[in-house]
Amino acid sequence: MLSVANLNVFYGQSHVIHDVSLEVPSGGAVALVGRNGMGKSTLLKSIIGMVDSRDGSIALDEVELSRQPSYKRVRAGLAFVPQGRMIFPQLTVEENLLTGLETARYSRIPDFIYEFFPVLAEMSQRKGGNLSGGQQQQIAIARALVSKPSLLILDEPTEGIQPSIIKEIAKSLVALRKELGIALLVSEQVLSFALELADRLLVIDGGRLVRETNRDEVDLDEVRSFLTV
Ligand SMILES: Nc1ncnc2c1ncn2[C@@H]1O[C@H](COP(=O)(O)OP(=O)(O)OP(=O)(O)O)[C@@H](O)[C@H]1O
Ligand SMILES: [Mg+2]
Repeated sequence: MLSVANLNVFYGQSHVIHDVSLEVPSGGAVALVGRNGMGKSTLLKSIIGMVDSRDGSIALDEVELSRQPSYKRVRAGLAFVPQGRMIFPQLTVEENLLTGLETARYSRIPDFIYEFFPVLAEMSQRKGGNLSGGQQQQIAIARALVSKPSLLILDEPTEGIQPSIIKEIAKSLVALRKELGIALLVSEQVLSFALELADRLLVIDGGRLVRETNRDEVDLDEVRSFLTV
C-alpha cells in the first residue's frame, strides 16, 4: 500500500501542493483528476521523487521513502510514466526498454512485458520515434514496468492519443492490474478513462484534494464541474 500523508510541495516561494494525503491499496487503482495547472504532475513527481516535498510522508508498505532519491523509490517498487511519453526517438524499442533497467534490480527485460505489449515485440528493432503516439505510450509504460513495480504511477497517459488507442491502453492497464496485481495511480483529464481504470477517484483543485469518492458513488456532474473551465 502507498500512503501519502500531509505532503506539501513548493516551487521556490510558490506553494503548489497543499497538505495532500492519499492511499493506494496494494493492487488497487486510484485516479487523480483535475484541470490544467491544478498540480497533478507536481504531486506525482513528488511521490516518485523528481521534485522535493518539504514535509509529510510517502510510504510504500510502511517503508518511508520521502527522503530517498528516485532510484531507491523505484527499487522499493514504485514506477513512473511521465506526462508526454518521454521516450528516446533515436533508440530502438528494445533499447528504450533497456533504459528502464538502469534503476531496476534486474538485468534483462522480463518476459511479461512482451506478452502484455505484443506490438512492442514485433517492433523491437524499430526506432521509437517512428512509432505512432499510442505505440510510443506503450513503450513508455513498458519501460516503467521493466523494474517489476508494485505500483505504477502514470501522468496523463491519454494526452494527445486517439480515442481507439485510449481504449487499448485502458485494457492493458486493467489487465496488468488483474493479472499481475500491479496497483495504479493515474492522473487524468479524460473522466471516462479514469472511471474505467480506477476504484477510487480523487479530485485535485488548486493543489488540494477537494473530493474523494469510490467509483460507484461518484457524482459525475460534480466531478465534471471541477474539470471544465
Ligand atoms: N518547475 C516549475 N516551477 C515553477 N512552477 C511550476 C513548475 N512546474 C509547474 N509549476 C506550476 O505549478 C502548478 C501545478 O502545475 P502542474 O504541472 O503540477 O499541473 P498539472 O495539473 O499537471 O497540469 P497539466 O494538466 O497541464 O499537466 C501550476 O501553477 C504550474 O504553473
Ligand atoms: Mg501535468
